[in-house]
Amino acid sequence: MDTRPELTDPLAERRALQDTETRIALAGHPLHAMLVSFPIALSFSTLGADLLYMWTGNDFWAEAAGYAIFGAFALGVLAGITGTAELLLVRGIRNRSASWTHFILAVMLLSILGANWIIRIGDPEGAVLPVGLALSLLSAGMTALTGWHGGKLVFDYQIGTRVEGIERP
Ligand code: HEM
Repeated sequence: MDTRPELTDPLAERRALQDTETRIALAGHPLHAMLVSFPIALSFSTLGADLLYMWTGNDFWAEAAGYAIFGAFALGVLAGITGTAELLLVRGIRNRSASWTHFILAVMLLSILGANWIIRIGDPEGAVLPVGLALSLLSAGMTALTGWHGGKLVFDYQIGTRVEGIERP
């Protein structure tokens, strides 16, 4: 007769890791996932405008880059606030180390976006070369990394994919 204890799945046992529903949502859709598209698009637009300024020398592109990076920073902070609220409020999100890795990446990204905006205030043309362009390259790289990692939270751990009280088949 087999006397070994029955094996259990530690993950299945731990509700603290399973409750990953979204709380900051509009009609069941996480606000964070909706908002992050703006800083992502604007961060890459800033890099594009900087490169076009370097290529053409047209001041329009330096000014466009200044507005784009301001939008990336401001909307990134807004997205960060909704993400942080989910992180702190939802047990299965705050109990995962991957969520905190995403938080650290995002705070680093927001600092770079903020610095990239601040150096352009008052002199958007003079700020592009070389520091603005270097910061835009760093911003785009960090945006890609943070966005990819956010996707991992959703696809690997199903974070934010359920709504409290609604069972999906
Ligand atoms: C500042 C702190 C941040 C925290 C605490 C945070 C937290 C989260 C959480 C909990 C999720 C899972 C979905 C949800 O529940 O809403 C997520 C997804 C995601 N995050 Fe963040 N986030 C932060 C900032 C950012 C920023 C600045 C970006 C911009 C690049 C970003 C990009 C993403 C992406 C692309 C997803 C996947 C969305 C999807 O595919 O549905 N996050 N984040």
